[in-house]
Amino acid sequence: MKQYIKPIKIGSIEIENNVFLAPLAGVTDSAYRLMCRKFGAGLTYSEMISSKGACYDSRKTLELATIRPEEGPCAIQIFGSEPDIMARSAVVFENMGAALIDINMGCPMRKVTSNREGSYLMKEPELAGRIVKAVAGAVKIPVTVKMRRGYDMGDESAVELAKICEQNGASAVAVHGRFREQYYEGYSDRGIIAKVKSSVKIPVIGNGDIDSYASACSMMEETGCDAVMIGRASMGDPHIFHRIVTGNENHLSLSEKAEVILEHLSYSVSFKGEAVSVREMRKNLLWYIKGIRGAAGLRNQLSRVSSVSDIADAVRNIFTD
Ligand SMILES: Cc1cc2nc3c(=O)[nH]c(=O)nc-3n(C[C@H](O)[C@H](O)[C@H](O)COP(=O)(O)O)c2cc1C
Repeated sequence: MKQYIKPIKIGSIEIENNVFLAPLAGVTDSAYRLMCRKFGAGLTYSEMISSKGACYDSRKTLELATIRPEEGPCAIQIFGSEPDIMARSAVVFENMGAALIDINMGCPMRKVTSNREGSYLMKEPELAGRIVKAVAGAVKIPVTVKMRRGYDMGDESAVELAKICEQNGASAVAVHGRFREQYYEGYSDRGIIAKVKSSVKIPVIGNGDIDSYASACSMMEETGCDAVMIGRASMGDPHIFHRIVTGNENHLSLSEKAEVILEHLSYSVSFKGEAVSVREMRKNLLWYIKGIRGAAGLRNQLSRVSSVSDIADAVRNIFTD
């Protein structure tokens, strides 16, 4: 049988396996990344971080980019549109321990695209190229780019952009097979990932709708991509990395899941303190209960938890086999 899950080299760095955690704004903080790493993610990504914030020493920005040594390799994803500022922020994050710098060229949000940032750069390949060149020239670690299928519906610009990224020094590209206009609607097209793969020599990371070992393997089989990146399916289920990396699709029992949640909570508390982590864990709890019998009724209860001990009690009550 073909071996899909294997080590991968991106630029100068060797990564233990080719199953990555996608950048998710408001989600992939240090505690979340650590959980995914513990279950086997080869590489994790921070959420998109403002390049301007890093240059202006914004406390919040620098907090978002804090990587704990036990996390393993973590990419810091930056967004912005000014090559010089992007390059300066990349240096800040390199010094903070980023394994690589990823440039966001996929964010569909209007408040981002209206500043010529995120997926807007798919419409401005010349500017995109200058950004990649400036960032790659400023740091020693590899620089990668995450993009979509294209900006406007039907205007498939990922192939052209990927080539420009490669020519300007990118060490890999990640492709999410939806147009900007689709946000997260419809399906993620694999044809575009295959086209990008056959147009560049650098590794290509396939992204979109992967939710199992079988779908990770079929993504690699159908597109030839070198790695896969998992986003939404990891929310409330960091164990997905174990299933994909090992090929053992058995899920955790409810009591094992309770231990996972409490571990996630304890990292969050130790990194952010009780008040912040209780607030932030609420959304994670709602993801963790997805698929559990009676989840709808539990939602109310979980959105009211107000202390670590409330959460621990609720989790122990809910997640029993
Ligand atoms: C809540 C949420 C936040 C996201 N934040 C980012 C982000 O900060 N940077 C980015 O490049 N993509 C972001 N994405 C897109 C994901 O990285 C990924 O490309 C997309 O969800 C498709 O992969 P999936 O089907 O595995 O979720 C976000 C997606 C979601 C649902």
